[in-house]
Amino acid sequence: MADSQPVAIEAYLNRCKNAVEQFLDSLFVKEQRTDYGTLAESMRYSLLAGGKRIRPVLAMAAIEALGKDPIPYIPLLAPLELIHTYSLIHDDLPSMDNDSLRRGKPTNHVIYGDATAILAGDALLTHAFTLLSDPDYDKLVSFEIRLKIIQELSVGAGVNGMVGGQQMDIASEGKALNLSSLEFLHQHKTGALIRASLRIGALLGKASSPDFEHMDRYGQAVGIAFQIADDLLDVEGDAALLGKAAQKDQDRHKNTYPGLMGVEKARNMARHKLNEALDAISSFGEKAKHLRELASYIIERRN
Ligand code: IPE
Ligand code: IPE
Ligand code: MG
Ligand code: MG
Ligand code: MG
Repeated sequence: MADSQPVAIEAYLNRCKNAVEQFLDSLFVKEQRTDYGTLAESMRYSLLAGGKRIRPVLAMAAIEALGKDPIPYIPLLAPLELIHTYSLIHDDLPSMDNDSLRRGKPTNHVIYGDATAILAGDALLTHAFTLLSDPDYDKLVSFEIRLKIIQELSVGAGVNGMVGGQQMDIASEGKALNLSSLEFLHQHKTGALIRASLRIGALLGKASSPDFEHMDRYGQAVGIAFQIADDLLDVEGDAALLGKAAQKDQDRHKNTYPGLMGVEKARNMARHKLNEALDAISSFGEKAKHLRELASYIIERRN
């Protein structure tokens, strides 16, 4: 995936995104012929509705920074996107954020009902581990590395990661958190899965232990920066571009960076995290060009 000519990050993102989507599009097709009703259809509906695919793309850029071609590893990176999509379906449910627009389309429960939306999320989550343990990939990546990837993904997504953060987000609605609790919340609900993406990329790229630590530090910083940017887009963004409603966090009394410190300071905090991320990978040289550009993109994005 390395380019000799500089390319805009949008072109790189699109190239990686298309490669990931081609694989995602191969999933849950034959299940549509079974008696599960609309389950597989609803899974495909949300999975293929669009999305930036930033988690697998970050992992691809990490593999590239370690001098390897990421394309063969896409089936083992798609699980990041399956888990992320499940988290969005559940996040939008009436009992959680109660949103009716996602990725530019009506949310899963609006089309398929709450029960199917919950089950579609459950099945997407479970399928992540079906893929990671699939004997088809025995020759591609050793059992040992795949077991480590399963560990990273399940920790990042679970009670001490994303799900724990989601619970904290819901439980602290209407209560004013201080900065260290807010950072803890963001580290978990969004940071943990992004951090896992970098750690998984590092495992697949066979990083040395110092390089693994560098990728991990980068992942922690961009993980928080990503949610600060999401909070800023809720305040300043345009629903048509975002593909989801804007200006909802304040009404729901959510704890956010702009809510706690104002837009300017939140933007500075995101820039501070960007610098931390860039600093973490300063030893990687030209091969980490896309990883650097992705960090800037994460805080400057419009959707
Ligand atoms: C939105 O994630 C939810 C957060 C964790 C902030 P993304 O902004 O990555 O959503 P998609 O995948 O591009 O739709
Ligand atoms: C969601 O955060 C984080 C997840 C783990 C899904 P938000 O609730 O802020 O995400 P959006 O704004 O609905 O995409
Ligand atoms: Mg939420
Ligand atoms: Mg939400
Ligand atoms: Mg948000």
